[in-house]
Amino acid sequence: MNIIKISPRGYCYGVVDAMVIARNASLDKNLPRPIYILGMIVHNKHVTDAFEEEGIITLDGPNRLEILEQIETGTVIFTAHGVSPAVKERAKAKGLTCIDATCPDVEFTHELIRNKTKDGYDVIYIGKKGHPEPEGAVGVAPDNVFLVEDLEDIKELPERLHESKMIVTNQTTMSQWDVKHLMEELERLYPHIEVHREICLATQVRQEAVAEQAKDAELLIVVGDPKSNNSNRLAQVSKEIAHTNAYRISSLSELKLEWLEGIETVAVTAGASTPTQIVKEVITFLSKYDGTDNTKPESTVPSQKILPKIKNPEPVKIME
Ligand code: F3S
Repeated sequence: MNIIKISPRGYCYGVVDAMVIARNASLDKNLPRPIYILGMIVHNKHVTDAFEEEGIITLDGPNRLEILEQIETGTVIFTAHGVSPAVKERAKAKGLTCIDATCPDVEFTHELIRNKTKDGYDVIYIGKKGHPEPEGAVGVAPDNVFLVEDLEDIKELPERLHESKMIVTNQTTMSQWDVKHLMEELERLYPHIEVHREICLATQVRQEAVAEQAKDAELLIVVGDPKSNNSNRLAQVSKEIAHTNAYRISSLSELKLEWLEGIETVAVTAGASTPTQIVKEVITFLSKYDGTDNTKPESTVPSQKILPKIKNPEPVKIME
């Protein structure tokens, strides 16, 4: 079987930074215990499980403020997706030691929303409902930020926006083609709107690589967690832009051999939060697969290979 290893793929700078912060926290004996992560540190269950084995507890749920109430004492780490100011204030009020692993690109959008709403603007935020990144971004100014996911949501926006100063921005990991399409519709309806495209560079280059390189394959396998928005968007880009069928799998164990029947060239990519070893295992299996072995593929990557190695642990920065 011919393999196209889409490049670039896999870990982004924001994910690596967040994992290093959490790993340093787990090695820092001075931090109050227990140590919790508020949500998944990055959207990948292999990573979450590996941290659990180190004694770092992940508390996940649809609402960060609600899950925070389960924590009484110790240290809390905020994930790469960012949290609202209300979550930070509540954590401090509870006396928790707080560590911020928000990706700088997400923080940049929070800053934009904070500054613009202070200057009297309303904000249309294009993002995925139920995902933690929009929850944090909308929470920066809940009365003035409107979350839209599709054209239907745009139709529901309040009348008053025709008269107000406004900007549109977006979740960093959306499909750049979807965002462009929705922003064009908003510009048509609100000619006075200021446009701030904030797809992060890591997402942008991974999507462009799929759009270009998956064209030469009959199938794309995206290795990534079901909760990872950027992984799901890579599969979408393959189908809609490269016109190549795509499946997302969490690891080799989810690969179905029937997908490979009659396929000569398969492309492989990975979401920005997918551990490199999990991706390597899929590529190795596919490159050896000759269509005759029907043994069900199983992932055997040990959790010690998932987390970043830290030679010289550093004390983590505690939020003031
Ligand atoms: Fe940050 Fe983009 Fe990665 S927002 S966490 S660099 S996918």
